Amino acid sequence: MRARLRELTANGARVALVPTMGALHEGHLALVDAAAKVADVVAVSIFVNPLQFGPNEDLARYPRTPESDSAALTEHGATIVFMPTAEEMYGANTSRTTVTPPLFAALLEGSVRPGHFAGVLTVVAKLFNIVQPDVAVFGRKDLQQLSLIRAMVADLNFPVQIMAIDTVRESDGLALSSRNRYLDADARRHAPALHAALVSAKDAFDAGSTNPAAIESAGKAVLAKDGAFEVDYLTLVNETDFARPSVAAKGDSIVVAARIGGTRLIDNIQL
Ligand code: PAF
Repeated sequence: MRARLRELTANGARVALVPTMGALHEGHLALVDAAAKVADVVAVSIFVNPLQFGPNEDLARYPRTPESDSAALTEHGATIVFMPTAEEMYGANTSRTTVTPPLFAALLEGSVRPGHFAGVLTVVAKLFNIVQPDVAVFGRKDLQQLSLIRAMVADLNFPVQIMAIDTVRESDGLALSSRNRYLDADARRHAPALHAALVSAKDAFDAGSTNPAAIESAGKAVLAKDGAFEVDYLTLVNETDFARPSVAAKGDSIVVAARIGGTRLIDNIQL
């Protein structure tokens, strides 16, 4: 990968990296399009990273669609696709060096998925070292991941600019996700309530409420009325360290995770 990139950047070309786990949808392709606007060389990695999956998570059944991914990436102007095997990335060594995330990795997604963010940050650090991009592009859909990557880049002095891209949605508001394919017809019918809940919480802020509990209640009421979700959390956070502000302010976000028909969905909206 480094040898190929050396050739591609011999004339000083700017490199963007779009890290993905494949099963690409329009949300990923929006990241590739954004990368192509700011860089000459767009490198896309496709790697289902075992380190970020817990023992009872969906590593084995995580969707893998390399042929259609490659075709879509060619169409969207990706220059080079990096699709390593787990063996190539980690070898057989089980005692390895990893990234220890900052404390807010233990909150929210981290509390439900212990070790997940250490796995994400470790693979992202490896990808940054392999590709050495000028800019790396991530979606706002995984907001806690984005904030943790920003923190890692600042704390460990990675010479890379992080670019964040808005979530792409279906016309009914459901955020695109590779896991949406797990939704059966009934779950799919209810799923847009997740975004509707976030919009309702934001509406409460837009109408003048700055009380976090009142804003969160407006969102939770939508999910309670829908009745199909088991809510893990719906909470106001600041994007820097995911602390819950005592007074809501523009720039804070509401993040939600909820289960529907055996599938866990996450989403967020910024005030
Ligand atoms: O967001 C993802 O798809 C993954 O967490 C990432 C950033 C590619 C690391 O494996």
